[in-house]
Amino acid sequence: MTKSDLRKQFFVFISVAGVLIASLILLWFIEPPITRYYSALITSVSWAQVDVAIALLDNFFRIVTIILWLSLVITFVRFINALLFETLLRKTSSYEISALVRNIFTIIICLVAFFIILQTQYESAYEKLAPIFTGSAIIGVVIGLALQDTLGNLFAGLAMQADQPFQIGDVVAIEGKGSGVIENISWRGMKIRTFQNKLLIISNSVLGKEAIEVAPRDNLNARLVFFNTLYANSPAKTAQVIREVVRQVENVSPKMRPIVRVRNLGDNGIDWEIKYWIEDYSKFNDTDALVRQRIWYAFQREKIEFAYPTRTLHIETQMQENAFVETTNEIFERLSNVPIFAPLSDEETRQLAESSLNRVFAPGELIVRQGQQGKSMFVIHRGSVFVQIKEEGATKNIRKLHEGDFFGEMGLFTGEPRSATVVVEDETEVLEISNLCLKPILERNPELVQSFSQLIDERRAFLETLNTENNDDVEKINKAGVFDSIKKFFGLGD
Ligand code: CMP
Repeated sequence: MTKSDLRKQFFVFISVAGVLIASLILLWFIEPPITRYYSALITSVSWAQVDVAIALLDNFFRIVTIILWLSLVITFVRFINALLFETLLRKTSSYEISALVRNIFTIIICLVAFFIILQTQYESAYEKLAPIFTGSAIIGVVIGLALQDTLGNLFAGLAMQADQPFQIGDVVAIEGKGSGVIENISWRGMKIRTFQNKLLIISNSVLGKEAIEVAPRDNLNARLVFFNTLYANSPAKTAQVIREVVRQVENVSPKMRPIVRVRNLGDNGIDWEIKYWIEDYSKFNDTDALVRQRIWYAFQREKIEFAYPTRTLHIETQMQENAFVETTNEIFERLSNVPIFAPLSDEETRQLAESSLNRVFAPGELIVRQGQQGKSMFVIHRGSVFVQIKEEGATKNIRKLHEGDFFGEMGLFTGEPRSATVVVEDETEVLEISNLCLKPILERNPELVQSFSQLIDERRAFLETLNTENNDDVEKINKAGVFDSIKKFFGLGD
């Protein structure tokens, strides 16, 4: 209720209350002279039943007084209702107080007021009436039977109100009945606005027996949307694209990061599930639709494809191309651009390219683990990785390596356990070079051993400055000299 509405209500209340109070005062003043005049008139015409006639007038005045007082109380209660429930209380809690509570409040006040007014006007009648209302078992049974359903609804409504499992504005789904937004809760039942803009009215006694799924209005409720992609598309890339797209959709909460995960490796492709949280749950249909639409556009841009329908006959004439198999030429290009391999002839680089293995790792995967033995080194073809060490039990990133960088050479050349862990940041493609294919190349290129040993020296020196758990290994290598250590390990002559 706005401020101007409240002002209007106040004005109406003051006017009506003023009129009613004025009527009561007027009645108070005019009653004695009218009664006197009326009695004189009656006795002068000497009507037989004077007492009855005077009692009639007296009753008339009492009933009018009762009506005026009751109207005053009702006007007052209505104003208090508006003030209390629609303004003050709504400000303190985010919920509207339901009609049920309001009605009960109104009924109780009016009943109490009625008995008090009745007592002031008809003391004797009140004494007769009160036990009827309070003590009559027969009336209780009659009312109970007649209002069986109504009372059932009322008590179920009261129980639910005490529990407060849902509020106006929440989205509810009732098994076998439907779903929608709660528009009103009364002492009889609940009014739900369905998503087809129809009204669904369910009585409280039915509600009490059903399983109800509630998406509270002030809660971040999650949605799930499913789709699938071809096996040829990289899962890491798909997940990244989807996450980016979903978080930009209107009504998707920025407070929670959308979750994109592979649900299943299905017959036709990779089955995906996206989970995101939405701010206004009553608009979940529109939000889901927008999410699906945005996915379609993102897939068009990123050349990601939805999986074929289940029963489409798709005859493969040749093996589906693996998204990550690079040609030897591409590997050759990559290795030629690695500065450390610059002294190699084209033929040697090609030989290295042919014998290296192409491997793809997902974000978060470990390529090498600190402390393990390893017989190969890796050149990053695409993506990025973190070099991590353990420091006082905690993991610390010490370097980030990109395309063209290499790692794993320390373990490979010295035969020592891996000095660090290498973990993938973005989806990364590496070329794995084993000691077997390097040996003949190192024999022919002593300068390569020199450059590697220099680089290993530098990296070791850096590790030494850190308080690593493998300082012992570092010490050992430093004393022997990396250059000699490499030659010894590969069995190379002077
Ligand atoms: P290796 O010891 O075989 O396995 C872990 C790898 O991390 C290591 O070889 C290096 O390639 C790499 N690494 C260790 N320390 C550093 C550093 N300071 N800078 C860059 N790379 C490093």
